[in-house]
Amino acid sequence: MEGMVEERTAELRLEFEERRKLDKELQKKKEVLSAVLNNIADGIVACNHEGVLTVFNRAAEKFHGLPHEHLPADEWAKHYDLYNEDGKTPMAMDAIPLFRALHGEHIHNIEMVIAPKKGKQRRLLASGQPLFDSQGSKLGAVVSMHDITEQRKIELSLRNAHEKLEQKVEKRTIELKKSKEEWEKTFDAMNDIITIQDKDFRIIKANKMAHQTFQIKPGEFNGKYCYEVFRGSKQPCQGCPVLESLKNDDTHATEIVHENLGKIFHVTSSPIFNENGQFTQLLHIAKDITEQKKMEKELLHAHKMEAIGTLAGGIAHDFNNILTPILGYADMILEKLPEGSQLREDQQQVLIAGNRAKDLVKQILTFSRQSKKELLLIQPDIIIKEALKFLRASLPTFIEINTSIPKCGMIHADPTQLHQIIMNLCTNSYHAMRESGGVLGVTLAPVTIEKGDLRVENLDLTPGTYLILEVSDTGHGMHKKTVEMIFDPYFTTKKEGEGTGMGLSVVHGIVKSYGGHIFVYSELGKGTIFKIYLPCIASEETSAQSKIVSSYPRGDEKILIVDDEEVIVQMERQMLESLGYKVTALTSSKEAWDVLQKQPESFDLVVTDMTMPNITGIELAQRYLSLRPDASVILCTGFSELINGESSKKLGIRGFIMKPVLKKDLATAVRKALDEQES
Ligand SMILES: Nc1ncnc2c1ncn2[C@@H]1O[C@H](COP(=O)(O)OP(=O)(O)OP(=O)(O)O)[C@@H](O)[C@H]1O
Ligand SMILES: [Mg+2]
Repeated sequence: MEGMVEERTAELRLEFEERRKLDKELQKKKEVLSAVLNNIADGIVACNHEGVLTVFNRAAEKFHGLPHEHLPADEWAKHYDLYNEDGKTPMAMDAIPLFRALHGEHIHNIEMVIAPKKGKQRRLLASGQPLFDSQGSKLGAVVSMHDITEQRKIELSLRNAHEKLEQKVEKRTIELKKSKEEWEKTFDAMNDIITIQDKDFRIIKANKMAHQTFQIKPGEFNGKYCYEVFRGSKQPCQGCPVLESLKNDDTHATEIVHENLGKIFHVTSSPIFNENGQFTQLLHIAKDITEQKKMEKELLHAHKMEAIGTLAGGIAHDFNNILTPILGYADMILEKLPEGSQLREDQQQVLIAGNRAKDLVKQILTFSRQSKKELLLIQPDIIIKEALKFLRASLPTFIEINTSIPKCGMIHADPTQLHQIIMNLCTNSYHAMRESGGVLGVTLAPVTIEKGDLRVENLDLTPGTYLILEVSDTGHGMHKKTVEMIFDPYFTTKKEGEGTGMGLSVVHGIVKSYGGHIFVYSELGKGTIFKIYLPCIASEETSAQSKIVSSYPRGDEKILIVDDEEVIVQMERQMLESLGYKVTALTSSKEAWDVLQKQPESFDLVVTDMTMPNITGIELAQRYLSLRPDASVILCTGFSELINGESSKKLGIRGFIMKPVLKKDLATAVRKALDEQES
């Protein structure tokens, strides 16, 4: 028995030792497990199958704000609040990850926010699952929590920075887009043909005008060679400024005539450098200067005409003075010669030749615009139709005449001059068609020229309404070189005796003196068009008709004649005395003024020359009229540019005679002035 007890005691001791050893090992394992748990950075929380919290490792304690000293598990929850991902909505009990895991859910990365009563709130990612023992009985649940507070903060600031960057990029993109659009709009709005090319003449970009001019759709320019598109050529055009720019990296310009387009361009080539200062592309600008060139030519022509006019006018003026006594005396001699005598016939030839010379002088004066006639308000269609009636009768039937001449306004003109314009132009047209026949067209139509019109800026045309008289033919037309000279006096391509070359110069002079303009378009072998712009008068005043005087009127009034040329003064004296007047003739205007000053009432009329030394005719008239406002004065001159009928009337001057003075003109003007004074 004793032996059995001893044996049992030894066994128990052994068992006890064994157990102590096991306990020790267990304790050790527990410590290791606890150390492992507490040293994990993630928080670990576990509960038993009844939901009572059993594990809260150090990281979890820290997240939840638990104090360092040991706390009973049922007090843990008092130290923190749990929120959903938004950080605002309190987390429902059944949504708490540990309890969801306890209910059998396997949860993965649920985002939540823990707000300890003391300490900073943290954002955690929780994952968890239920725990079972080897027999499959539920032991509880475990949840691990990974702190993503810092990560989220970084993410947030990264997101903010990213958003800011995106906003900046977006803003910059909009700005860039806007400036690109603006640039493109400007590029397209430019009225010149603009292209950007590479150094091999390949077009990289072309503006709208380039597309329009060459009728190329957008985009189809790209990659094509400049010379291929612009000129249909296989190599760079001769004289192209791009060639020069390629040689010395500089801007070059030149004028280029484009035969096919019928245009003249001012072409500029400028190198474009990249950010490293390398010459990579070229800016090619072609400015259409066709119209400008045309206007320059017109202006040059106008100046030339002006100069010729001044010269011709001066000669004509002197010639007039010589012609005056010749014709005057010839006229007087004729009157004295018996009817039917040989001498009278001879004298008539003198007068005919003299009158031809007078006509020529008149033409030159018309061209040089020194024969300003008193213009009347007329309805041009009536005169044009009249002239055409005459032309139809005189032109052969193989000349077809097409007309459109509506009543379309009034103009200030001299009917004879207007007639002359039609006759000169139509005769030229007939001459151009006399070999092969053709169509002569005459039309009249109104047109309004606005401010800013090229014709206003370059051709001295004042904005307003004009009547366009168009005379066209289908004749042989003219060379460009001929067109440039047709308005020059004495320019003719006709055989001797067929034309003097004065026709168009006279037309030009008349049109210019009316404030109008004349255009000519001609194509060799096709025909010619003349377009005459005549200023249109708005009011419908009735045209004043000049009286036709058939006989020489007479009188017995006292007249003072003043002219610095003795021969003219004497001739005029004889003319007037033969009509019954009492004449005093003086060659000095100074002397005339003395006489008039002393006895202002002693004359019924003063006829004075215009251009005289010391006191001019107009000055003498003015002085006399200031002394005696009811006085009658006639100005007699070959130079009418300084004063015309209208302005002389304003000064109180009653008449105006153009040299060379014929008895008929002098008699009429004198009588008219005297009669007007009486009434
Ligand atoms: N319609 C036309 N068609 C072709 N050539 C013309 C036409 N009109 C004028 N010309 C040319 O202009 C030149 C000058 O014309 P202009 O009328 O001034 O003189 P002309 O006709 O030669 O002579 P004139 O008119 O003095 O008798 C003409 O010689 C002719 O060469
Ligand atoms: Mg002619």
